[in-house]
Amino acid sequence: MWQGVIETYREYLPVSDRTPVVTLQEGDTPLLPASNLSSFLKTDLKIYLKYEGANPTGSFKDRGMTVAVSKAVEHKAPVVICASTGNTSASASAYAARAKIKSVVLIPEGAIALGKLSQALIHGAKVIAIKGNFDDAFTVTKKLTSRFDLVMVNSINPFRIEGQKTGAFEICGQLGHCPDYQVMPVGNAGNITAYWKGYKEWYGAKKIKKLPVMLGFQAEGAAPIVLGKVVEKPKTIATAIKIGNPASWEKAVEAGQESKGLIDSVSDKEIIEAYKLLAETEGVFVEPASASSIAGLRKLIKKNYFPRGKSVVAILTGHGLKDPDRAIAEIAKPVVLPPDIEVIAKEIGLS
Ligand code: F0G
Repeated sequence: MWQGVIETYREYLPVSDRTPVVTLQEGDTPLLPASNLSSFLKTDLKIYLKYEGANPTGSFKDRGMTVAVSKAVEHKAPVVICASTGNTSASASAYAARAKIKSVVLIPEGAIALGKLSQALIHGAKVIAIKGNFDDAFTVTKKLTSRFDLVMVNSINPFRIEGQKTGAFEICGQLGHCPDYQVMPVGNAGNITAYWKGYKEWYGAKKIKKLPVMLGFQAEGAAPIVLGKVVEKPKTIATAIKIGNPASWEKAVEAGQESKGLIDSVSDKEIIEAYKLLAETEGVFVEPASASSIAGLRKLIKKNYFPRGKSVVAILTGHGLKDPDRAIAEIAKPVVLPPDIEVIAKEIGLS
């Protein structure tokens, strides 16, 4: 039986016999070959989709949260706290519930997707909406943590990065080798930091023979790393990555440079196109932030960035059901008809 990322990768994680393992059996997510997408994009790239939306709370955060909350319990922390654009709060509150400890989550008022808010509420977190954006919530959370007995479980907590690096281990195991390229969204920049650390460790442990080129994508209206300066008022429909001052900024730049990759941006229009394309061609429903992986990939394919015959893994960070409002806003509404066979058959085009 799959036992979650701590038991599976125990020797590569900062845990010991004294660490109580708090797990929802996260990890072991699908790595789907995406040949329909390759055909649509007219590329011979071998595209794989790492569907992190299949984690227990619907996002990649669970890989990091199992380690962060387990360590918090080991250190007898009574309360975990985070600032979040939604997914971290969903994950933190679920793992805290399982660990029987309290969770407090600070979210930007009116700016997180409905599914994520419902998760934090149902798991019993103390949910506080901040009059401000994610960056404001993050700053005040850090201040609270320095004054009170709270463990912050954002990705500045090194245990989060440790857990999330297992995504890289898993991809290499599933593929049987290291991919040539990895494409992923960048928000607070913890995940790109974690993946790059994971690949380097796997290389150091001689599990893979080379390292991938890391390609990170921010949303155009929230692209501080690309612009080289803090964005005071970030703007994008991809609320999960609506961040103007990422905590792991330097590490993300480092991952891009060391791997000879890049950090670039994609527009909301490109994100929405990729969001629909993925759902329509591959049957994979992701939230808008996750679609920035595919939007970025498409942008680079158009620029002839990739040599022939290479492999690329796109990290799809969160499930589409997190943000149902967005899907409904983008697509035409259902046709309303009476329960009449003739009328329905006509509408379907059968008669
Ligand atoms: N994709 C999704 C779905 C996310 O929720 C996030 C971050 C990212 C990508 C970016 O990852 O921050 O490690 O660069 N969400 C955080 C949150 C900020 O609070 O849930 P990152």
